[in-house]
Amino acid sequence: MEALQCIETRRSIRNFKDTPVPHEVLEKIVKEASYAPSWKNTQVVRYVVVEDKAIQEKIANDAVLGFSYNTGTITKAAALVVVTIVHGRSGYEKDGSYTTSKEDRWEVFDAGIATQTFCLAAHDMGVGSVIMGIFDDSKVAELIGLEEGQRVAALISIGYPDEEPAAPKRKEVSDLLKFV
Ligand SMILES: Cc1cc2nc3c(=O)[nH]c(=O)nc-3n(C[C@H](O)[C@H](O)[C@H](O)COP(=O)(O)O)c2cc1C
Repeated sequence: MEALQCIETRRSIRNFKDTPVPHEVLEKIVKEASYAPSWKNTQVVRYVVVEDKAIQEKIANDAVLGFSYNTGTITKAAALVVVTIVHGRSGYEKDGSYTTSKEDRWEVFDAGIATQTFCLAAHDMGVGSVIMGIFDDSKVAELIGLEEGQRVAALISIGYPDEEPAAPKRKEVSDLLKFV
């Protein structure tokens, strides 16, 4: 798929077929996501694929801050991907001080770029995804046994699409762009 076509046709997918996504496909998606740019090439983003249905159910029911829309999306997913960050590298100088006034927020920026790269690569390979931000970080970390020093950045439900949603309306370029 051409890059621009991939960008324009990727949609958030919230209904998935029962078919599992093979490990080789997930490995290829993560390989592509590894080409995402990152703060000083620190590459702090990691992916935890939850295949254990009991853990997936627990996250869906107990860790979505009452936002039941996400309960459905997580339950229906072939797998849930927890995007995590190795904290304390992105945005920092070698001596441990912050480089800029954005302090450690560059790690979340890195996670965003990597997550979108992941979703675009998945789309190119026929795998649907939706990024989710409404969840309880600490509950998810506990349920997946996240290792010390890492933080949860986002959730992605993935699977083979069982819907073809239309693109939600976009703002006009004139609303988004200005030249100074
Ligand atoms: C940071 C972020 C958080 C999001 N959180 C959720 C979420 O919790 N639940 C959900 O269903 N969609 C979530 N979305 C998906 C957006 O609703 C979706 O991207 C937007 O409506 C545009 O639709 P499209 O992705 O199909 O272009 C999130 C997207 C982003 C980038």
